[in-house]
Amino acid sequence: MQGRRHTFCTKLYSTYLRKWWITIAFAVCLIILGILVTCEFTALINIIINYQVALRPGSQTFGWWAKPPVEPKISVYVYNVTNANEFLNNASKPILDEVGPYVYTESWEKVNIVENENGTLSYNLKKVYIFREDLSFGMEDDVVIVPNIPMLSATSQSKHAARFLRLAMASIMDILKIKPFVQVSVGQLLWGYEDPLLKLAKDVVPKEQKLPYEEFGLMYGKNGTSTDRITIFTGVNDITQYGIIDKYNGRSYLPHWLNDDCNRLNGTDGSIFPPHIEKNRILFVYDKDLCRLLPLVFEEEVHIKESIVGYRFTPPENVFSDVERNPENMCFCPAGQPSCSPNGLFNVSLCQYDSPIMLSFPHFYLGDESFLSEVDGISPPDKEKHKFFIDVHPTMGTTLRARARVQINLAVSQVFDIKQVANFPDIVFPILWFEEGIDELPDEITDLMSFAATVPPKIRLGIIIGLFSLGAFLFSLALFCLIRSSNRQSTLHLEGSNYLATAQFDLTKKKAKESK
Ligand SMILES: *[C@@H]1O[C@H](CO)[C@@H](O)[C@H](O)[C@H]1NC(C)=O
Ligand SMILES: *[C@@H]1O[C@H](CO)[C@@H](O)[C@H](O)[C@H]1NC(C)=O
Ligand SMILES: *[C@@H]1O[C@H](CO)[C@@H](O)[C@H](O)[C@H]1NC(C)=O
Ligand SMILES: *[C@@H]1O[C@H](CO)[C@@H](O)[C@H](O)[C@H]1NC(C)=O
Ligand SMILES: *[C@@H]1O[C@H](CO)[C@@H](O)[C@H](O)[C@H]1NC(C)=O
Ligand SMILES: *[C@@H]1O[C@H](CO)[C@@H](O)[C@H](O)[C@H]1NC(C)=O
Repeated sequence: MQGRRHTFCTKLYSTYLRKWWITIAFAVCLIILGILVTCEFTALINIIINYQVALRPGSQTFGWWAKPPVEPKISVYVYNVTNANEFLNNASKPILDEVGPYVYTESWEKVNIVENENGTLSYNLKKVYIFREDLSFGMEDDVVIVPNIPMLSATSQSKHAARFLRLAMASIMDILKIKPFVQVSVGQLLWGYEDPLLKLAKDVVPKEQKLPYEEFGLMYGKNGTSTDRITIFTGVNDITQYGIIDKYNGRSYLPHWLNDDCNRLNGTDGSIFPPHIEKNRILFVYDKDLCRLLPLVFEEEVHIKESIVGYRFTPPENVFSDVERNPENMCFCPAGQPSCSPNGLFNVSLCQYDSPIMLSFPHFYLGDESFLSEVDGISPPDKEKHKFFIDVHPTMGTTLRARARVQINLAVSQVFDIKQVANFPDIVFPILWFEEGIDELPDEITDLMSFAATVPPKIRLGIIIGLFSLGAFLFSLALFCLIRSSNRQSTLHLEGSNYLATAQFDLTKKKAKESK
């Protein structure tokens, strides 16, 4: 054993490396490399990930972005008014019956994609909705009774107009037999029905102020290719801008609100985010119908499939708070103090042709309790069922699961001069709520994600262990040989003195025996 080591040492510094210090230098290099890998490996992997996710035409991620291999679903719950007559004639509370879900699967595709020279892409979004009877509770032709949104919008808007206009409106509505509640099918409510008031408006209103449609539907015109032209950053030049909207229909800012901060629209569409998401990042999603950027903050880690950890982001609780509770919302209130949105509602009338549409979370989640108590039949909000959230993959920035939950309400103002609605009180009337969701990404994407999340750390650990142990082995070997070679002389001395000591011991033993 001892002898074998000796020959190895001899070989080490004579045959192969000549001098012991070359071995030490080599070992030190390995250890330094190990330290570098420890520190810089993540950066290296990030460079690879950033290259992979950026939208380069022809790449796999580009294909996934352009035609997502997912099947988003939208589930619609309609508040069916069961006592419309009593409500109007007897001042009863409206009794609502939540019906549904009416489920549509969506297929998304980006069309007319044009690559710009400055690291952006322009496209139109094509969404096709297919009704899914098997997933729904009810049929698309179920009849529901809901407030007449075009009519109540017109009457509410006329509140501050001249009295004779309101009287004229009343007689027109009389002639056209327009009632404050309509009986329509769920399909009509969503995708459009002919509305006599809109038809009239289209014929008489001057061209510039014209509403674009003569049909009314809450999702009217949304089945198919949208005319909105969206320009987003690809992330090729700057990964921190990946997926972020540069221009929406040529605009970099919304025109509606009081300052640039509220008018920003540089968020993403919610399906991708700039990668390497930290828990303290605020994500921003822009949706045209929401009429603003929606901030999302980290809530918790969630497990998706077996191997993937996602970060759940959800809007901060004060996102739709009134200006007393969240003064930052003041810039969303162009009409000034008394008519700012009440707590828990967001006034989108400026994005909805001035209709008094107010958004909230389903069942007025995070809103004032008074909205619930003004109607009968809506259960108290349940955070798990009604909150809005997006689960993202922190490394890649891809949305793994999402539930975009929004309720549409009509803020009706009582107008006494119009006899049809004279008994319709000031009320925030819930119409429907929907949940647009992505449930599961296909395996090819999640496999890549679990690879990105688990394999690089393993490779890194392997490289580190390899480099460190090889370095440490060589280092100690060289040190051992060095000590061996430089100490051979003194070792011999020591052995000599030992021998002497033994001899002396023997001598004393002998002497002792002799004395006996
Ligand atoms: C909605 O309510 C009306 C009136 O009560 C009723 O006739 C209708 O069947 C209800 N619709 C659904 C889908 O339950
Ligand atoms: C109206 O209200 C009165 C008292 O609240 C009640 O007796 C009457 O039955 C109601 N009428 C209708 C049509 O519901
Ligand atoms: C990039 O180019 C497109 C098309 O030329 C233009 O609309 C957009 O404003 C440009 N964006 C930036 C950030 O320069
Ligand atoms: C949407 O359009 C497609 C055809 O482009 C059609 O098959 C589908 O039924 C439409 N969906 C709805 C809800 O109207
Ligand atoms: C959006 O634009 C604002 C300036 O208008 C800027 O401060 C902010 O950092 C931008 N956000 C992102 C995510 O790029
Ligand atoms: C909603 O906003 C519009 C435009 O700013 C304003 O005129 C209206 O009074 C607001 N509605 C309510 C109910 O606050």
